[in-house]
Amino acid sequence: MSDIPVFGSGIRSDGSRPTRILAVVNQKGGVGKSTTAVNLTAALGDEGSRVLLVDLDPQGNATSGYGLNKNQRKECIYNALLGKTPITDLIEPVEVENVFVVPATIQLAGAEIELVSAFSRETKLKGVLAPIVDDFDYVIVDCPPSLGLLTVNALSAANGVIIPVQCEYYALEGLSKLLESFKLVKTHLNPGLEVFGVLMTMFDARTNLSQQVVEEVKDFFDECVFDTIIPRSVRLSEAPSFGRPITLYDPHGRGAAAYRSLAKEVISRG
Ligand SMILES: Nc1ncnc2c1ncn2[C@@H]1O[C@H](COP(=O)(O)OP(=O)(O)OP(=O)(O)O)[C@@H](O)[C@H]1O
Ligand SMILES: [Mg+2]
Repeated sequence: MSDIPVFGSGIRSDGSRPTRILAVVNQKGGVGKSTTAVNLTAALGDEGSRVLLVDLDPQGNATSGYGLNKNQRKECIYNALLGKTPITDLIEPVEVENVFVVPATIQLAGAEIELVSAFSRETKLKGVLAPIVDDFDYVIVDCPPSLGLLTVNALSAANGVIIPVQCEYYALEGLSKLLESFKLVKTHLNPGLEVFGVLMTMFDARTNLSQQVVEEVKDFFDECVFDTIIPRSVRLSEAPSFGRPITLYDPHGRGAAAYRSLAKEVISRG
């Protein structure tokens, strides 16, 4: 377990680069957002980066993916978004050194409705993160499978998006809608927002389909597509039930190797 440092001190671990705030977004369900949020943060932590994972999905899959019990906690990111709890009270260390998590519980489902009438409702997360953002090299936000207010908050707070795309039929379906939301937020709320990378997930080398989908997505997104491709791996799907990232659950397997390679690529993209 990492020691809990004092957050809000504004001292960055490397003192140089501005913090990368990356939202893991795709309104399509089950494409590998939470798997990526958990395993990328773990691999970045192993590389020595200081990382905060913010779970912004009421399903709390990133929370439980790190072994934090989402059913037994009273407070989560919801309380911070509603201005009831400072984020510093919600940050939890996990089994991976350098990695910290702000958990989500099902309570967060209420935020979509309760924030509707709030002043600057789209930028609540940005305000919540402001006091602590400089304490980290990376802040990774796991989004729910929708383009609702929570995802808009993630897009407003982030400076980049990571879009996981599953290697399957209709992979590109819905991506134009996602890009529309991206552009709206960029135009009206967050001009600095960029597509940081598109990540192909659940690649099955035994099928032509997977390869075809990768080509199709590369035609569409060009060099935005990460060179790293995440393979379909039973180990990756098992790890969350043990509450451990793949780097601990199966450190020598293909899944861990892929997420380590992704972490290096993320770091090299700056
Ligand atoms: N590379 C992979 N190989 C095998 N199974 C995977 C892989 N990536 C994700 N899975 C499994 O696929 C399912 C969906 O993954 P995940 O929960 O990461 O998607 P998601 O986009 O976060 O879903 P949601 O939209 O519901 O939040 C999970 O059961 C997960 O364990
Ligand atoms: Mg998820």
